[in-house]
Amino acid sequence: FSDFLTDIFGRQHTYLRISLTEKCNLRCQYCMPEEGVGLSPKDHILTTVEILKLSRLFVSEGVTKIRLTGGEPLVRPDIHQIIEGLNELRSAGLQHIGITTNAVTLARRLPELKAAGLDQINLSLDTLVPAKFEFITRRKGHDRVLKAIDKALELGYDPLKINCVVMKGVNDDEICDFVAFTENKPVDVRFIEYMPFGGNKWNTKKFVSYPEMLSLIHERWPALQKLSDKPNDTSKAYKVPGYAGQIGFITSMSNHFCGTCNRLRITADGNLKVCLHGNSEISLRDAMRQGNSDDELLEVIGAAVKRKKKQHAGMTNLSKMENRPMILIGG
Ligand code: GTP
Ligand code: 5AD
Ligand code: SF4
Repeated sequence: FSDFLTDIFGRQHTYLRISLTEKCNLRCQYCMPEEGVGLSPKDHILTTVEILKLSRLFVSEGVTKIRLTGGEPLVRPDIHQIIEGLNELRSAGLQHIGITTNAVTLARRLPELKAAGLDQINLSLDTLVPAKFEFITRRKGHDRVLKAIDKALELGYDPLKINCVVMKGVNDDEICDFVAFTENKPVDVRFIEYMPFGGNKWNTKKFVSYPEMLSLIHERWPALQKLSDKPNDTSKAYKVPGYAGQIGFITSMSNHFCGTCNRLRITADGNLKVCLHGNSEISLRDAMRQGNSDDELLEVIGAAVKRKKKQHAGMTNLSKMENRPMILIGG
């Protein structure tokens, strides 16, 4: 495995998350401030050619999975070409091409994206109540997300992961409803601990921890069963015996999983971000546009990876640390 993508703690980074755009058709409270975020000038955003060039370089060094994020990745008009381009990297070792999407426009795009090579879908659904969807996302679209779920299941996406960011007083009363949602649908609902990011007004009063969620679910389903997790999974998986789907918990705050982190990120404006948290970033866009060779780019990447910290700063410190709003990172 590439020395450039191995950090000083021996973590091998086989998973690259690329943000395709800073734009989004929703305004989720946990992701961005109400007033929105300042967007980069268009020529600061990586082009398709640049994205595919970087992807090829990372795959040649051992990356086996690329997930496209945003903003909302489907807002980017050329996502189809990007997926096709990534699909050509399979012979070079790329095994998985995913997106993380709000799914509002997914249903109608899915057949063409699947044909282009998209094989993993994670989508957001924070509530089963239409009016609450509008409150959380400050936009409409709940019915279209539900349609996208059925379409993705129909097209054979398995697992189909559903991300639910749990916020006290907002949707924590729906945790059991989401578990019940897995009875007949073969989906993986992941309850995500709410994380602090630039402008999202996180505070401990809105936070619901993994142990709290688990005990709530246990009360109604005492037979809840722990499933095994894969080494680089962010979620801890469980299942109600007999249900078609499963559930999971992404415990970034109460029980971080930095020790097994295999992820690197590239922001839409071309910065390499070695950790979701903290604002240590370097510009691969500038390095590329200055005409650096692949070997020189790898030196830049390798140096950044070697600066990656052992773990994030912990719940209290994170809430005070500077970082981009989530919409500019992509999760
Ligand atoms: P896959 O394992 O590829 O399915 O990805 P995922 O489930 O980690 O990614 P997804 O984009 O669906 O994000 C789900 C949640 O996990 C979001 O809240 C992300 O912010 C969070 N997440 C993703 N990667 C990391 C990470 O490296 N560290 C932490 N702490 N959280 C992460
Ligand atoms: N805390 C936890 N998860 C978040 N996401 C966005 N903002 C936050 C936050 N503050 C999740 C969304 C989306 C994924 C990209 O990141 O659920 O599915
Ligand atoms: Fe858009 Fe996703 Fe952020 Fe919601 S969480 S505003 S859907 S990028």
